[in-house]
Amino acid sequence: MSNIFSSFQVKNVSFSNRIVMAPLVRFGLPSYEGSMGEKLMNDYLSRADKKIGLIISQALSVSSDCNTSSKAGGTSGGAGVYSDQHVGYLSELAEAYHKNGTVFFAQLALPGFGFYDDNSRDINKLTKKDLIKIRDEFIRGAEICKRAGLDGIELHGAHSFFLNMMASEHSNKRQDSYGGDLDGRLSLVKEITEGIKSFAGDSFIVSYRMGWGDSLDADVKIAQKLEDIGIDMLHVSTGIPGERKLELPSDFQYNEIVYTGGYVKKHVKIPVICVNNIKTLGRGNALIENNYCDFVAYGKPFLADARFIERSLKDSNYKPCFECRDCKWFTDGEKCPVQLKAKVKGSSLH
Ligand SMILES: Cc1cc2nc3c(=O)[nH]c(=O)nc-3n(C[C@H](O)[C@H](O)[C@H](O)COP(=O)(O)O)c2cc1C
Ligand code: SF4
Repeated sequence: MSNIFSSFQVKNVSFSNRIVMAPLVRFGLPSYEGSMGEKLMNDYLSRADKKIGLIISQALSVSSDCNTSSKAGGTSGGAGVYSDQHVGYLSELAEAYHKNGTVFFAQLALPGFGFYDDNSRDINKLTKKDLIKIRDEFIRGAEICKRAGLDGIELHGAHSFFLNMMASEHSNKRQDSYGGDLDGRLSLVKEITEGIKSFAGDSFIVSYRMGWGDSLDADVKIAQKLEDIGIDMLHVSTGIPGERKLELPSDFQYNEIVYTGGYVKKHVKIPVICVNNIKTLGRGNALIENNYCDFVAYGKPFLADARFIERSLKDSNYKPCFECRDCKWFTDGEKCPVQLKAKVKGSSLH
């Protein structure tokens, strides 16, 4: 029986365990012209020796011309992958992670779009020429990542942002070949994936963070379509609609997002990452032991305590995150109560 520390193989990429650090913009830590600034780099580099199976970067913008002042525009926190200059910071991270046996993906996103954001640009007003430019920007972003020595990319198709809006019938009302039925709404992702696959080879993974739809049936349809398109891995999270009501079995110990991930896994052959409020290594381990998913991702536990894995080895119920109503990392991570407490006590969380 596999557990959370069992290795895993996807194409030619070997994962030392099933623990994923989810994509997390550290909003207080700036980037400059798309390259991560020193403080942000230090945060990423401090994760290198923490025995994480897979680290997925925060959303990186594939485009230089995004308005980062709006909510949707700021979704990358200013970090990007749209210029040859970005090979530098990405390869430094990849090298540090590889030395420690951690696999590294970049999350590729197009800021400026958000279904629930009043300042969002409208995907339905984009011309075909605009979409072809965007397609090529995603492909170029992946090519930069491959050149920088990363093991793959994750297309950000969740949380109501750009690719999620293209995939959803609630937001995509286009009358051309990029709209209409599910095939049409996923045709941009298909073209992006084909473009990346033309140079990916066996050692570069194309993962997709999938936003849920109206129902589990709709989720399975989109997941299977993504598998047909050639996506190598799925990471299941929220989407459009922002909330939906599912009847979970009364003995199910996790939330509806994890439930959806496990449900999707039963209907595809590619590996699936479950995420959201998994909280402890023990709870994640139970998901892997029961073959509910192939990987478990953690966000806030890693933000609260970079040594989350090490401390969980002593106590698998170790739960570092206080679950504040508004996570301070959306504004200034130094105000995270766990960080503040560590400062007062003079103990290290890195
Ligand atoms: C501060 C912060 C920044 C985030 N940034 C991203 C991001 O860049 N891309 C993304 O797909 N999800 C992002 N997320 C969502 C996380 O990846 C994850 O899905 C979420 O935190 C739930 O997992 P958790 O309960 O283990 O924290 C972010 C979450 C937080 C708290
Ligand atoms: S700010 Fe609160 S919710 Fe966010 S990581 Fe820290 S303890 Fe958790």
